Amino acid sequence: MHNININGEIDFEYDMEFSLLDSIESQQLDIDYNCRAGFCCSCKCELVNGEVDLIQTPNPVIPLKEGEILTCCSRPKSDLELRFKDKLQHMHW
Ligand code: FES
Repeated sequence: MHNININGEIDFEYDMEFSLLDSIESQQLDIDYNCRAGFCCSCKCELVNGEVDLIQTPNPVIPLKEGEILTCCSRPKSDLELRFKDKLQHMHW
């Protein structure tokens, strides 16, 4: 199991979800997404530390910058430190 750190504030264990996007959603964190297929770039973040495996091939409408990943296309290969542009809030129902 790998530890995921988000914006230096939130930590949780990746627990066999299909993608990083799924694992972040499983924590009831309000992450942006749209296509879930590597096109729209809504789910992108900066990979500050660690390594990911690709589970589907990204085909982003906006080219990714060095160090950026799409969470819908990625799965952790090690502990990860991720940085999102906006703070991820916990969803309250
Ligand atoms: S949700 Fe569209 S690229 Fe990930």
